[in-house]
Amino acid sequence: MSLVWIMAAYLVGSLSFAILVSKVFHMADPRSYGSGNPGATNVLRSGNKIAAALTLIGDALKGWLIVFLCQRYATNVTDGLIALVAVAVFMGHLYPIFFKFRGGKGVATAAGILFALNLTLGAATVAVWLATVLIFRISSLGALVASLFAPFFYILHQGIDAIAMAIMVMCGWLLYRHRDNIARLMQGKESKVGKK
Ligand code: G3P
Repeated sequence: MSLVWIMAAYLVGSLSFAILVSKVFHMADPRSYGSGNPGATNVLRSGNKIAAALTLIGDALKGWLIVFLCQRYATNVTDGLIALVAVAVFMGHLYPIFFKFRGGKGVATAAGILFALNLTLGAATVAVWLATVLIFRISSLGALVASLFAPFFYILHQGIDAIAMAIMVMCGWLLYRHRDNIARLMQGKESKVGKK
């Protein structure tokens, strides 16, 4: 039964809302312009704010939903299972089976997962992201800073457990997926929010 939850999480994560929303709006595939990332930030570069907002909501909601459902309805639910389900939905977003394994960087999905794991954790992490983006106007920088804070927020509150390990894996992977952004940031070439 645990395997069913993990597989379901991976499949749900594989629903890339940037690609799906772009198809519905008859827009170009977000992997073909801007940073090439199928995520809300890059969809915003198309100029379509509604499509970007729907991408953000869809990608966050899928992370939140599957973890929430697992916590509520899985039989004999353990922290270990919740941790695996969280990582599975995150990995589905990064390496979607429906889109040739070319997915996003996981920021919105990770935020949804954090909200499901702990409301305060989600809110605190998003607050760090928002504050950074409001100050610097750079989405990737917000994601990088928030992903450094999230594991500390969780561990300070709960200590090290299976869920802490999952958060560290997700945040570490998220940093790795932003390696091109990090290079651009260091060169001072990273684009500001909403700019092409
Ligand atoms: O959500 C992804 C964001 O952190 C960076 O996106 O398109 O600027 O690489 P992008």
